[in-house]
Parts: sequence; structure tokens; C-alpha cells
Amino acid sequence: VVTAEAADLLIVHAGELATLARGGTPRTGPALSDPDVIGDGAVAVAASRITAVGPTDTIRRQVAVTPATRIVDASGRLVTPGLVDAHTHLLFAGHRAHEFELRVRGAGYAEILAAGGGILTTVRATRDASEDDLVEIGKARLDRMLAHGTTTAEAKSGYGLTPADELKILRAVARLDRAHPVDLVPTFLGAHAVPAEHRADPEAYIREVCEVMLPAVARERLAVFCDVFCEHGVFSVEQAQRILTAAAGLGLGLKIHADQLSASGGARLAADLGALSADHLEHAPDDALRAMASRGVTAGLLPGATFFLFQPRYADARTMIALGIPVALATDFNPGSSPTLSMQMAIALACVAMKLRPAEALSAATINAAHAIGRAGEVGSLEPGKRADLVVWGIGSVAELPLHFGTNMADIVIKSGRIVLDRIGGRV
Ligand code: NIG
Ligand code: FE
Repeated sequence: VVTAEAADLLIVHAGELATLARGGTPRTGPALSDPDVIGDGAVAVAASRITAVGPTDTIRRQVAVTPATRIVDASGRLVTPGLVDAHTHLLFAGHRAHEFELRVRGAGYAEILAAGGGILTTVRATRDASEDDLVEIGKARLDRMLAHGTTTAEAKSGYGLTPADELKILRAVARLDRAHPVDLVPTFLGAHAVPAEHRADPEAYIREVCEVMLPAVARERLAVFCDVFCEHGVFSVEQAQRILTAAAGLGLGLKIHADQLSASGGARLAADLGALSADHLEHAPDDALRAMASRGVTAGLLPGATFFLFQPRYADARTMIALGIPVALATDFNPGSSPTLSMQMAIALACVAMKLRPAEALSAATINAAHAIGRAGEVGSLEPGKRADLVVWGIGSVAELPLHFGTNMADIVIKSGRIVLDRIGGRV
């Protein structure tokens, strides 16, 4: 059988083609560690979509090629779906090198925030930046993400904390989504911290989030999700619940920064509200994890943040997996707790510090991450009809993915059928 549509791109001879097939539901249990690998695999692409996936000899017979067809010989390399970064704080200005050094010398992350630094340091810098500035900053970051194999990412606001500044960040995200190959899924995180000017009356800030910011975000369709930093000394469970309930009423999906620094009730709240994901979870109690399992709430694993905050306690991913919770992996890219743009680093940390198997980490970084941000219909697996987002790696197997931590092993990155990076051919 020859498919009617000639391929405009054909990737052949992948030593392992990790398809993450049957992507209709998140992978849990045994499926998590089986990424549906095809040996000597091939993928055909036409008009930015995948048209066929299978063994190279089969695809060669099935798929029509023309002189215009671009053929990429993966020469035995690993080929996977483009990575999906399910949790980032993409847009902010400045950096926190000074506070990093304070932390190296022994200062605590929560202590720095309580003293008006931390997130609030970045809020001051981000308020001073224009929407255009943020677009420029974002482009440079997205270029680096793409170079490391990330083709879709979630992007949160949360460093504006006034109606105008939160909308500025989300409008910049929308412009970047249109202007840059990396696809972005926007999340409103107005409840990231109580800004300094509302310190005396946090309730007034929460009212502003619920009554001014959320309706404006919904009206302009600037976010798909709403997130809250639920933590002792930041937003309580009760406050988070009010904000998220208002967001759900406006049609937004729900996410929570949950139980990151202490057992503060976020995972339980995520289960109660039926949130799509609860992220961090370093201190989530077992009963809250069981509640997440029964509601099908995805656990967003962010090992970069645990690592960079020098915390000994990583989220208990093995218990989550044993309970059947879908786990997704993300960088948590942000200037304070996890300034890495590399999903490869997140994969390595998840394996080393959370004891994920490499295949589990890959599932968590692709199809499960896509489910966690509502994009599994489009990306996260290599199946006919999906967007042709792929990475050809400088290694031969899924098992090797965590080995080269800190080293970019993405050789060719393909976004929507277009080769956007090619280290082998030397072209971009
Ligand atoms: O996911 N925990 C809250 N938010 C971020 C850190 C933000 C920052 O420090 O700027 C996180 O870890
Ligand atoms: Fe975060």
C-alpha cells in the first residue's frame, strides 16, 4: 500500500524509535516503563503532521517519496517525540545570582522570600520590563529550550502581581507562541506571592486576583490554566481553594504548586478540586497521594527545584507510580528554585534522585507531560495525525538518556515537520 500523500520529510533507520504509542491516556504502571520502541524505525511527515510510523523497510514500501522529499538517516540513533516541558515560569526579568550565593552561605529560600526577596526580587525586575522586553528575553530562552529538544512548554505568569503586569506577561507569552516554533500553553499564576504593597492585607490581593485579574485573563483568553503557590506563609489551602474555584468558574483548568516546602495541603486540595495536576509534592503525605490517584490527578515532578534548593527530600515518585498516579516531568524553569531550561537535566535528575527508570522518565517527559497541559491530542507521541515534533539524539537507546547529564545530546530537532536544529549537518 502506498499512502496517497507523498512525504515531505522521512526519518529512517532510528536504532530505537520510541513512539509512546496509544497516547490517548497518560501512561501509568507497566506502560510507563514501556515507551513502545520500534527497532530500525521510520517516521513519515507531510504538511507538518506525522503520516506513518513503523519499521524502516515497511515505511519505505508504504510511503511515496518525491525528489522534494527530505530524507534524514538517523543512522542507528534514538528518535523520540519532542520533549514537553509541563511546568515553567518562562517569562521574568533579571536573575538571582546574589540570592543564590546567600543560599550557598546558608540562607533559606523561604526566609529570603519572607524578607521581601526571592520571588519578590524577580517581581520588581519584571515590573520594570516592557512587554517587548519580555518577548525578546523569551525568544532567547525558547531558542535554548528548542536546542535541548523541548518543542512544547507550559508558561506561567506570576512575576507581575498587578493586573497590568500579569496581563503584560501573558500577552508576551501569546506573542511568543505565535512568533517562535516552540508551542506554549499559558497558565495564570497571579497567586504566586502576595506583593509587597498588599502585605498588610493579603485578602485585598486575593480579591483583586479573583475579581479583576481572573476575569480579564478569561476575557482575553490569555490562559488555559490557573495555578496557585499553596504553601505555609504564601497562600493557604483555603485561599488557594477560593482562587481556583473562581478560575474553574471561568473555564480555566487547575494546577497547584503543592507541598513543595512543607506538608501544606496542596495535594489533597488538588484531589478535592479535580485539578489536572499537582506539582512539586516533595512533602505530600501518602493519604493525599492516594486521593490524587483515585481522582486521576497528574503529579508534576520537578526534581530541578529540589536539587537547586539543596533539599534532601525529593518527591516520592516510586510511591506515586506504585499507586498508579500519572507522573509528568518538567524543568520548573524559574530564576530562584530551578534556573535550567534543559529537560535532559530533568530526566537525569529524575532517574538519579527519584529512581525513575530511563523509560519512565521519557514517558513522563513526553506523553504524560502533554496530558498534564491538555495537549496530548496534538503532541507527546509519534502517531499518525499528530504534529511532527521529533528529536534525533546523539545516543542509540532510551536507556542512555540520563547518562550524559549536563550535556546537550539533541542532534536534530524537528518542530511541526521543519528541521529547526541540525548538529549533524551543521545547519539550523
Ligand atoms: O516552582 N514555588 C514557587 N514558585 C517557583 C519558584 C519561583 C521563584 O523562586 O522565583 C517554584 O519553585
Ligand atoms: Fe513552579
